[in-house]
Amino acid sequence: MHLPLIAANWKMNPIPAGALDAGSAYHPHKDVEVVVFPSFIDIKDCVAAKLNTGGQCGRSETAGAFTGDISMQMVKNAGCTYVLCGHSDRRRYHEESDEQIALQVETALAVGLKPVLCIGETWDEYELRQTELVLDRQLKRIKPDARLTIAYEPVWAIGTGNTPTVEEVTRTHAYIRSIINMTGIRILYGGSLNAKNAKEILSAQGMDGALIGGASLKPQEFATIIKAAS
Ligand code: PGA
Repeated sequence: MHLPLIAANWKMNPIPAGALDAGSAYHPHKDVEVVVFPSFIDIKDCVAAKLNTGGQCGRSETAGAFTGDISMQMVKNAGCTYVLCGHSDRRRYHEESDEQIALQVETALAVGLKPVLCIGETWDEYELRQTELVLDRQLKRIKPDARLTIAYEPVWAIGTGNTPTVEEVTRTHAYIRSIINMTGIRILYGGSLNAKNAKEILSAQGMDGALIGGASLKPQEFATIIKAAS
């Protein structure tokens, strides 16, 4: 069995103040696995400070004319253990397709990174009760692998302060588990998780941790979330 995974997605923000200082909340813990996803330019500093570090994305090609991009192999070489694949920001602003994302997951595994695959429906899809349909599509090309983590992140919950109910999260997690039917694969929740709602959401049945954006930039709030997970 894995420890719960608490992942900090710092997106296009600087490293939070004090995060690199010895003993900060972002450093490894005993009963919770903590991983930070800094911007590419900050990866080396995080690795040097002995943080468990991941890349926010990576291309499946090894090298070539892809201005502004970075390969999975480069993410690995920089000292990362994890990589996010298919975060909704990447799907939205970089038009990454399910096909490309599946290839990224495969490449990440091949170079020795642990992919965190992000999936989830938009508000319109939620309202039309198409969540399972969307998850089917997003998971169709994904080969189960025990090193894979899945983050269920309803797009409408990301950065909005809105969250699904615990019942909804539990139901959706069970659905994802029924598709990716393999023990060892962690399924996280992401989307407006914070110090206030962490305990309730993290106690949902079948919950293996969380991917946190906004609240992960605030060291004290992040520490509270880690406590809730342990
Ligand atoms: P949020 O972001 O916690 O700010 O909603 C989550 C994410 O984008 O992974």
